[in-house]
Amino acid sequence: MKPQTLAARAGIDTKLGVAKPLNLAIHQSTVYAYDNLEQLETVLTGQESGFFYYRNGHPNASALEQVLAQLEAGEACAVASSGMAAISGAFLAILNAGDHVVADQNAYGGTFALLTDDLPRLGISATFVDMQDLVAVENALQANTKILHLESLSNPTMRVTDIPALVAIGHAKGLKVCVDSTFSSPALIRPLELGADLVFHSLAKYLDGHSSVMGGAVIGDKELIDATRVRLIHLGATMAAFDAWNALNGIKTLSLRMNAHSQNSLMVARFLDQHAKVARVDHPGLEQHPQFELAKRLYPNGLGGMLSFELHGGYAAASRFVKTVAPRIPLATSLADVSSTLSYPFGTSHRALTPEARARINVTDGLLRLSVGIEAIEDILADLAFGLNAV
Ligand SMILES: Cc1ncc(COP(=O)(O)O)c(C=O)c1O
Repeated sequence: MKPQTLAARAGIDTKLGVAKPLNLAIHQSTVYAYDNLEQLETVLTGQESGFFYYRNGHPNASALEQVLAQLEAGEACAVASSGMAAISGAFLAILNAGDHVVADQNAYGGTFALLTDDLPRLGISATFVDMQDLVAVENALQANTKILHLESLSNPTMRVTDIPALVAIGHAKGLKVCVDSTFSSPALIRPLELGADLVFHSLAKYLDGHSSVMGGAVIGDKELIDATRVRLIHLGATMAAFDAWNALNGIKTLSLRMNAHSQNSLMVARFLDQHAKVARVDHPGLEQHPQFELAKRLYPNGLGGMLSFELHGGYAAASRFVKTVAPRIPLATSLADVSSTLSYPFGTSHRALTPEARARINVTDGLLRLSVGIEAIEDILADLAFGLNAV
């Protein structure tokens, strides 16, 4: 072979000797090579497992899907390029023109935008309700409602959603009950075991845990996941092999991390709750939280690392606090990293809401959301005390 031929064909059929790598390799190949038409036909028709084109699936996505399906006690999983891709793919698999969705009024901003901006153009409508008000949920259901969409722990005020009660309401009307469990992860709650039909995750959060991944997942029964996968392939919303590989590495320490997040966040919540500069703390592990009892029942293994707190003094106090602590606990518009981060819902995730809508869900200009990391608790508390002293 000529050098240009050798170079062009380098890498095909690399043998690894008799052993196999302990960590799955990154399969960064756009396409898979076959020796004959018959072989390809067996894979295309599903008689043999195999891959043929990256957008349709690859070994790193498959490995991640298997682990996520097991972790969520689901039959099947489809991973996607982001959490929003996973939600969009599943919604498009279930909904047709004329259908209706009932969703949490605290739903993640991207989900809210999908339901209010994109899906209405396809003839799909949505109603947003307070998921803690079961009567309001029942009243919002229409003859054409097909999906009840919940979030396990809501952003940013950490309301606990009563998944079993909402599953009962949804299933009595034949709806698909979808749970975005991004804030809790399967280490804390498994919505499919509580009766939900689909579970969503932004893999960029607790499942990866290191702020190094973009990806999403949807887990449920095989029929729904197969239908979702077709939509994801059509949309071209494939998860990148490197991100899938990275997410799989993060998942290996999920339980350990969630224990540490849960313990630290409860101690931080108790500390903030006692502080004179803090007006309110939202953490379902505090007794004054409206769903304290429900949280104890649904989350026996802890509540993860998320909490929010309101400073006396509104925007000026929040701004001063962030400036003081940001060198150690930075402002970052994501969550669930092993290191603690802050966010400002009033000016970011909830910016587009009307002042009345923000007030209704307690997102004030003095509210900060804290994603409590797994650092030594003494250091986190010292950093927060330093910031509060400056306010
Ligand atoms: C609760 C929740 N659901 C879904 C998403 C969307 O995930 P992604 O950013 O991976 O699309 C996010 C992102 O922050 C989220 O917090």
